[in-house]
Amino acid sequence: MWTIGGTFPGPTLESPIAQGMIVEWQNRLPARHLFAIDHTLHGAGRNLPDVRAVIHLHGGRTRAASDGYPESWTVPGHSPGNSQICHYPSLQHAAPLFYHDHTMGINRLNTWAGMMGFCILRDAREDPLNLPAGSRDIPILICDRTLRADGQLDYPVSEKPGEPWVPEAFGDAILANGKLLPYLDVEPALYRFRLLNGSNGRFFRFSLTNRPHDDALQFFVIASDQGLLAAPVPLRRITLAPAERAEVLIDFTPFAGQHLELISDSFQILQFRVATGGSLGTNKVVIPSAARSADTIPSTLHPTPRIPESAAVRTRRLTLDENMDYIRRSMGMLLNNTPWHAPITEKPVLHSTEIWEFVNLTDDSHPIHLHLVRFQILDRRPFDQFAYQSKGTLHFFGPAKPPAPEEMGWKDTVRADPAMVTRIIIPFDGYAGRYIWHCHILEHEDNEMMRPYEVLPEGSHS
Ligand code: C2O
Ligand code: CU
Ligand code: CU
Repeated sequence: MWTIGGTFPGPTLESPIAQGMIVEWQNRLPARHLFAIDHTLHGAGRNLPDVRAVIHLHGGRTRAASDGYPESWTVPGHSPGNSQICHYPSLQHAAPLFYHDHTMGINRLNTWAGMMGFCILRDAREDPLNLPAGSRDIPILICDRTLRADGQLDYPVSEKPGEPWVPEAFGDAILANGKLLPYLDVEPALYRFRLLNGSNGRFFRFSLTNRPHDDALQFFVIASDQGLLAAPVPLRRITLAPAERAEVLIDFTPFAGQHLELISDSFQILQFRVATGGSLGTNKVVIPSAARSADTIPSTLHPTPRIPESAAVRTRRLTLDENMDYIRRSMGMLLNNTPWHAPITEKPVLHSTEIWEFVNLTDDSHPIHLHLVRFQILDRRPFDQFAYQSKGTLHFFGPAKPPAPEEMGWKDTVRADPAMVTRIIIPFDGYAGRYIWHCHILEHEDNEMMRPYEVLPEGSHS
């Protein structure tokens, strides 16, 4: 793999909020790329080096200069020009963030190669909640990959000579923290897992089962992309699109001596081997029950007041498009039918609030991510794609659906489902500057489903 810091996932960066971090990402990649580059994609031309890298902190409230702009890549080497120095001020809420490559035109390849890891921002103000900590607070990056018969990492290619790009890459090997079918020894106690879907394109529907009984067991969702929910949400299944995160509490207390499994549909992902309650006859260290008695699931977590729609100064209607180019026999994917290099059209003003509505004209669900900001999901509403395409009119087929309870907190990535208008409300807090928004299916992102946007200084007119 091509990793960051020599492991996959890369080392977990941990920091208290507001302390700030300076990270120097040094490009020491080899001279040849691991996978086939499609030089016909914008930003991956033959005039550019094949091996390039730039790292973005996903979910970080970061100044534009440190955000990892896709065109600000470095090439391998040892001089200062081969590294990217980033300041992450972490002036934001505690949240499960992650870092990953973002290089123009080859992000899907670099990230698939392994360039990603967690960044956990902590806030001492959460301590009174007594959530599981230390060895019982575990980040798990789950992703699919393809392995060749010789066990090496593989990435699919199209059948078109010279144009290897594929619209989606799905692997049949599901890795949890880089391992295939691993297990984790746990105590019969409460645990906090920070789940990240690190796939290029696969959506997961996680559930917890006690095979062979195959019951879908209950767990509690306590946080979404940008931190704690207002209250724990009991669930038996949770969907995570690429780049979405969820923090869950699992209580293993009733399962002493049993094996549970985290699964997604028919995929086995991770086995939990729950220690027996007593330590008799085993050499396992068991935490005495007194130490666990504080483990209760809090009834409330962190207030997340809903932003009223009236707070928005403007609503932008933005389409998600897939256009078949019958001459080139290739699929074009765009945001608002506008390619990456066209002039910037979305220019919100710093500290203003806007509603963005994503009109999904495609047959796919696209996880849409905005850099810099956090937002709330307003609703999703089914509409007539044909009427929109032919007459440009928005005709709804039914009422708007509120987000699921586990989506009610702060988000940075939202599933825009097919034939739905998905609305989010975004306070543009942080910094003025040029950022990006894009689909987080990395094959789509590399093929123009990505646009710059610019936060204008306060007092400007957008
Ligand atoms: Cu996960 Cu543009 O980022
Ligand atoms: Cu991001
Ligand atoms: Cu997409």
